[in-house]
Amino acid sequence: MKELTISVIKADIGGYVGHSASHPALIQRAQEALQGAKDRGTLVDFHVSYCGDDLNLIMTHRLGTDNAEIHQLAWDTFEACTEVARSLHLYGAGQDLLSDAFSGNVRGMGPGVAEMTFVERPSEPVVIFMADKTAAGAWNMPLYRMFVDPFNTAGLVISPSLHDGFNIEVYDVKSAKAIVFNCPAEVYDLLALIGATARYVVKAVYTKKGEIAAVSSTERLSLIAGKYVGKDDPVCIVRSQNQFPAIGEILEPFTMPHVVEGCMRGSFFAPLMPVPLRFAQTSRFDGPPRVVALGFQIADGHLVGPRDLFDDPGFDQARQQCNALMDHLRRHGPFEPHRLPMDEMEYTTLPQVLEKLQGRWVDMK
Ligand code: F6R
Ligand code: MG
Ligand code: MG
Repeated sequence: MKELTISVIKADIGGYVGHSASHPALIQRAQEALQGAKDRGTLVDFHVSYCGDDLNLIMTHRLGTDNAEIHQLAWDTFEACTEVARSLHLYGAGQDLLSDAFSGNVRGMGPGVAEMTFVERPSEPVVIFMADKTAAGAWNMPLYRMFVDPFNTAGLVISPSLHDGFNIEVYDVKSAKAIVFNCPAEVYDLLALIGATARYVVKAVYTKKGEIAAVSSTERLSLIAGKYVGKDDPVCIVRSQNQFPAIGEILEPFTMPHVVEGCMRGSFFAPLMPVPLRFAQTSRFDGPPRVVALGFQIADGHLVGPRDLFDDPGFDQARQQCNALMDHLRRHGPFEPHRLPMDEMEYTTLPQVLEKLQGRWVDMK
């Protein structure tokens, strides 16, 4: 049985206008580059998409995860698109390509990566989530709801194919360690960590038989660069139906616009708004942060789709709630809890401002 790999590799390599959206010329350039790779037989198929100012390369191939040829292809494509971004004087051209010396794997070089390998089922529905103006931990709550919470996913209770639960892999992005929780047995241990979204990030979900169910990009740009260069704007791949949650169970968590870090200058908490692609660009206050869900059927490695899954009035109320919450948070201006707590502000541009106060501090009386 031939294994298929889906690689979703994304980067912000230039915004139009400012940090708000992606210029069509970048998408076209990426399509040309990936079409070349498909013609050469490197890729089985591809789809180029965007969320805000992030360019998302969705690729299927037979080379496995962390493959040097695929990562080189993504890097070269981002470089080619950066040239276009520079010629149009787009904002932040080449922003996420943090190194000049590419070494065979884009991990740790700026782009976000989510990849999974599996044997394709007779019918293989897959959802690709793409977010803008937020951080890697944004998927923690939705992935928890999809794979662990019986109030969200009815199948965990009433379907024999989901009733065993799932194993959840968590990364500690600050100490570069990983841990796997057997759920539902270890749900409280899981929650003890993943409630702290800036540090603990759900990397992957597996069935109890070891089959991959979901994988996310966990790269934290600020930790890689050692300074603020923009938000992670993560992606996530989720397999659906049968032994995995149904499409409706995968999308249901986004009816509750949970509050994530990101937004203006990557420095604020704001609600995550589920949107169709045509609204996947922030004009207001670099927020509310956006999430898009593209649904595909995989057919012998080919991507049939996408269906723009949040293009559904069923999410109108979530969008309204998001706007109401955003208005309320915005009125806090530079105050917490709209602004991130001080230890997270370390990774923003604020420390440069505080530096000039250094010499003025005296002991309290
Ligand atoms: C978020 C993001 C933006 C910028 C903001 C200021 O990921 O990139 O919120 O931080 O637009 O950008 P500069 O400092 O480049 O004007
Ligand atoms: Mg940008
Ligand atoms: Mg972005």
